[in-house]
Amino acid sequence: MSEHSFRHDVLILGSGAAGLSLALRLREDLSVAVISKRELSEGSTLYAQGGISAVLDATDSIESHVQDTLKAGAGLCDRKAVRHVVERGPDNIRWLLDQGVEFTRDAEFASAGGYHLTREGGHSHRRIVHAADATGHAIETTLEAQVRARPNVTVYEQHIAVDLITSRHLQDHREHRCLGAYIFNRAIDRVETFLARFVVLATGGASKVYLYTSNPDVSTGDGIAMAWRAGCRVANMEFMQFHPTCLYHPEARTFLITEALRGEGAHLLLPDGERFMPRFDSRAELAPRDIVARAIDHEMKRLGTECVYLDISRRPANFIVEHFPTIHKRCLELGIDITREPIPVVPAAHYTCGGVMVDQHARTDLTGLYASGETAYTGLHGANRMASNSLLECLVYSESAAQDIERRIGGYPAPPDVPDWDESRVTEPDEEVVVTHNWDELRRFMWDYVGIVRTNKRLRRAKRRADLLAQEVIEYYSHFRVSNDLIELRNLLEVADLIIQSALRRRESRGLHYTLDFPNKDASQRVPTILIPDYYQPRVDC
Ligand code: FAD
Ligand code: SIN
Repeated sequence: MSEHSFRHDVLILGSGAAGLSLALRLREDLSVAVISKRELSEGSTLYAQGGISAVLDATDSIESHVQDTLKAGAGLCDRKAVRHVVERGPDNIRWLLDQGVEFTRDAEFASAGGYHLTREGGHSHRRIVHAADATGHAIETTLEAQVRARPNVTVYEQHIAVDLITSRHLQDHREHRCLGAYIFNRAIDRVETFLARFVVLATGGASKVYLYTSNPDVSTGDGIAMAWRAGCRVANMEFMQFHPTCLYHPEARTFLITEALRGEGAHLLLPDGERFMPRFDSRAELAPRDIVARAIDHEMKRLGTECVYLDISRRPANFIVEHFPTIHKRCLELGIDITREPIPVVPAAHYTCGGVMVDQHARTDLTGLYASGETAYTGLHGANRMASNSLLECLVYSESAAQDIERRIGGYPAPPDVPDWDESRVTEPDEEVVVTHNWDELRRFMWDYVGIVRTNKRLRRAKRRADLLAQEVIEYYSHFRVSNDLIELRNLLEVADLIIQSALRRRESRGLHYTLDFPNKDASQRVPTILIPDYYQPRVDC
């Protein structure tokens, strides 16, 4: 073992709700590494606003949460996965409370234990527990503090996983197992070797593949791309969710305006003040996201406007400030007083419903490799994720993974030594502009051709461009030393290709995938889109 080689029992790639909750769920006698490509707290979790859905109110029911999720998923949810998550909701909220997360209280919600429950699209009950409009911040910072206090957990910040290490790296074709990951340490500019009995992908989503997104910069689909290269199947990548309401302002491109505003009575308006959502759906502003985002896109294109408006000003000012302090403050900084005037909003890429296929223990196709959180495809969301089901999915599947790892780890072999990363045939990059240019081009054509409304012609156009860029970037990758941007661009291209391939296969419109060529649902296509990679081998369970 060289000084750039590390060994742990469990290697967790990613430090959002999925990664941190998993680290905390594992027994304290296991040595756990948490890898994070920026600061520990950076990731989508930190910016989550609306809250977490769970059946907490005595008048609500598991059955109702299940039915709402299935309905939003447009016929493609895996019923077992939906039950698995929804039934574990209340316990997971209690677990968060035990960790110290402080959710907003309201004495009027006595039947929900005194916690204020808000409402979002698709939910037929108030069932979203939240910390004002900064739920993710409350969860992430609480879990971060707990993880940092754990003696068995080592945190590696500013480390970006490049690729998974599998038995293939040892030319061992008898078994197909994950042994660890090659990880780029940004501080010393070199790739190091991390070996572990079990590896967990908790790297979040891929919405940075689009020009406009609510996601932070880290959401570049790294886990999905790494798993795909390592031989794992990937499913439902055509279902990229666009959040209907991101702030439209040149100085705040990724700032979300939570759906809870609509849950608390905000209306969507055209520039002339007309409320338009009732024309599209009887649930109006509280229809599921795919419907609201498409309606906004339709109205913007019809009128040639750059945005629509979200108006909460009919609610009392003190209610708005108390429930939405973050949004109120941020908008005020930009000159918009949301207690008095409507907020300019546009849709933006928000959530990756597809991902690395896992079973109910969060096991992927590759022995020893798990996936949890936005990077995974569990079957919960189907063709469209219902609001606030995502954080819950992170917690539930990380709990399941931790239980499964603990069941299996006794007697599970430690990985053998593997060769260090070979840098002997690469040189310093000569033209960084290749990376920045291709990054911009990719995100722009994905927005234009693979966005809210698709056609076969647009998808094929995108495929041709993605193929060309991939060729260029793979060539660049094989000649030059890796860098953070190059690693991310390589992954974004991989994920873009998976999205386009999946979208071309689905010859119907369902949930988040809407194409003008096949504008209706087709019952014969009520199955997930599963892509099978080159090195796929069915997993041998142990
Ligand atoms: P993340 O929280 O995104 O964490 C991913 C982690 O992986 C990060 O630490 C990142 O640095 C790390 N990482 C990525 N690639 C690598 C690599 N190659 N090497 C090392 N580390 C890597 N959902 C809800 O349920 N309720 C909400 O109210 C809600 N609001 C949202 C608001 C916003 C603005 C956004 C963007 C999302 C929101 N969502 C919400 C969705 C939800 O926040 C995310 O789906 C969820 O937080 C994902 O958690 P995660 O742990 O899977 O990933
Ligand atoms: C929001 O607060 O609108 C985001 C909720 C989610 O993405 O689940």
